[in-house]
Amino acid sequence: MGTLSTAVWRVDAARPDPAVLAEAGSLVRKGKLVAFPTETVYGLGANALDPDAIGALFAAKGRPADNPLTLHLAAVEGLPSYVAEIPVLASRLMKAFWPGPLTIVFKSAGNLPRAVTGGLETIAVRVPAHPVALGLIRAAQTPVVAPSANLSGRPSPTTAAHVLDDLAGRIHLVLDGGPTPIGIESTVLDLTDECPMILRAGMVTKEQIAAVSGVAPETVREAVIEQNPDWSRCRLILVEGPPGPAAQEVLRLYEKFALENKTTGIVTREERVGYYPGPVVGCGRAGDAGSVAAGIYAAIRQLENLDVILVESAPGDLGPVVQQRLRRVAFQVIRVGNAQ
Ligand code: TXA
Ligand code: MG
Repeated sequence: MGTLSTAVWRVDAARPDPAVLAEAGSLVRKGKLVAFPTETVYGLGANALDPDAIGALFAAKGRPADNPLTLHLAAVEGLPSYVAEIPVLASRLMKAFWPGPLTIVFKSAGNLPRAVTGGLETIAVRVPAHPVALGLIRAAQTPVVAPSANLSGRPSPTTAAHVLDDLAGRIHLVLDGGPTPIGIESTVLDLTDECPMILRAGMVTKEQIAAVSGVAPETVREAVIEQNPDWSRCRLILVEGPPGPAAQEVLRLYEKFALENKTTGIVTREERVGYYPGPVVGCGRAGDAGSVAAGIYAAIRQLENLDVILVESAPGDLGPVVQQRLRRVAFQVIRVGNAQ
């Protein structure tokens, strides 16, 4: 358990108070850990030049030392100091998507402490599109690394309360700028090889990357990602199919687990909440993948002390990115009705 007293400072997401940002930035510069909102999820910022701060960051998250950190910059102008080269394709993608939810992996210039990337010769960089994130990074007057502000193995936080659930007592400060608008992490794209490779799917899609690159989407490679069994504390089952058959299957499973004395929660769309017995959480609206992404981690956190979470996924509701995230962490994926 942590021993720090974690401060929470409210900030206006659109127009954060420069005095508050200056103070938070100076804490980062002095080696403190400060959580802050980005447009994707909350990040946990640390001074990238301070090996002690990097050590404290890995310890606070319980993060394995070989999982590299992402450098967050306030502007693309800072990039050349940290990377060995900027491929032409990177320049085009940065122009199209920065600031925004795209992280690019470059060959590293090798001038950050070894612990930042666990000794890798590459460095992931992004420029976030959030006034609080940008203001804090500028105010820190030092490069800032920022993994998602959760304990390792837990869903990324999309509110300051989520950050506190995981990290209260372990970090100095949370800048509370309200819920993060996108709700899932950035796309991670590796450009260190001739052929770009998506390491983590996100809101910037393969099709968008291909369009800017002037290549066919099929030629953009995607890393096949291992299951991450400890992501959530409970068993998550994803039920995919048209609303009718999916709902029937969710109800069937709910009753089956009840007979086994397992506590079960259901995540569905807001319109369908009334269809299910509790505990049920409405996450987003049918056919609106963005609204589902924005709420999915909060919905799972609300139910994760139960034995099982059933997530209903009708076609077009979750969108490919959230669907992929959940497939990765699900204990089971059940498909009913016609193939999607
Ligand atoms: O949206 C986001 O990217 C959020 C916000 C806070 O910016 N950050 C975030 O950071 O999700 P993190 O550390 O939780 O996830 C970054 C991912 C990890 O899967 C990490 O392994 C990968 O990027 N990554 C970082 N540096 C890398 C590198 N040099 N090579 C390959 N993968 C890298
Ligand atoms: Mg993370």
